[in-house]
Amino acid sequence: MRHFLSLKDYTKDEILEIIDLAIKIKKELKSGNINSYMPNKTLAMIFEKSSTRTRVSFETGIFQLGGHGLFLSNRDIHLGRGEPVKDTARVISSMNDMIMIRTFAHAMIEEFAVYSKVPVINGLTDSYHPVQLLADYMTLVEHNHTQNLKVAYIGDGNNMTHSWLMLAAKLGFELRIATPKGYECNASILENALELAKESGAKISIYNDPRIAVEGATVVTTDTWASMGQEDEKAERIKNFRGYIVNDALMSLAHEDALFLHCLPAYRGQEVSESVLEGKQSVVFEEAENRLHAQKGLMVWLDRQNN
Ligand code: CP
Ligand code: NVA
Repeated sequence: MRHFLSLKDYTKDEILEIIDLAIKIKKELKSGNINSYMPNKTLAMIFEKSSTRTRVSFETGIFQLGGHGLFLSNRDIHLGRGEPVKDTARVISSMNDMIMIRTFAHAMIEEFAVYSKVPVINGLTDSYHPVQLLADYMTLVEHNHTQNLKVAYIGDGNNMTHSWLMLAAKLGFELRIATPKGYECNASILENALELAKESGAKISIYNDPRIAVEGATVVTTDTWASMGQEDEKAERIKNFRGYIVNDALMSLAHEDALFLHCLPAYRGQEVSESVLEGKQSVVFEEAENRLHAQKGLMVWLDRQNN
């Protein structure tokens, strides 16, 4: 059974195959051909955190593939009032063909996957956001922007940073991360990525100075300073992250053709300036749209693997 919990479990060839499939299905859609790759299949979507993009892209995506999506908020299902994960997993997977989960602890989806009879997709945990990275890399492929790729990630060492670490480690590109002191990425995920990088040739460097990380980068990216679940720390984080905003001055240190990515939602004036987010180098809204296409590629790929 193949699940999609982290890019760690995927080879470079598999990641590129999913993206190729996504690009093919996107082209079909844009030319007016909606092909039912998954007729009558159902995707159960469990949300323990808020979402705009993930919910809309998965629900629209499964519908366009000929199937149906069920939105299950933890406010409405018994999981949210204490029914065990392993019971929920057995029940929901006995009635559906695929399951997407957005939750807090990564261990929750790992446990869910153990008990699930159908593929489980990670729609974001505190540790990883791998479907976002499929859309991000797909956007770079479409822009012919993957040669000599040097990605600079500026900001919090969070689920997005960890996902970039895994993508770089698997695909073998250069990744420079700059976080404030005390907000570094998880040490064991970093160690894991550095180990994988030995095989792929990825060059991973960790800094505290955003200017050093951005120097000559071909992609600059960032994320919110306070992730879902960290609302109480927001004011303190805004103070501690001062100087880590991606603004025009910082972007001017990157390669002149550098692209700006952001998974969204973005907080203008905090991690990114209005001018960068809305500027010529920003491809954030293509990136957001690609969530739909990338996840359709992923669902079709997983369906084929498991049937
Ligand atoms: N980028 C992303 O996952 O957005 P949502 O939180 O809106 O799903
Ligand atoms: N790091 C952010 C990503 C949101 C898509 C969070 O976890 O809230």
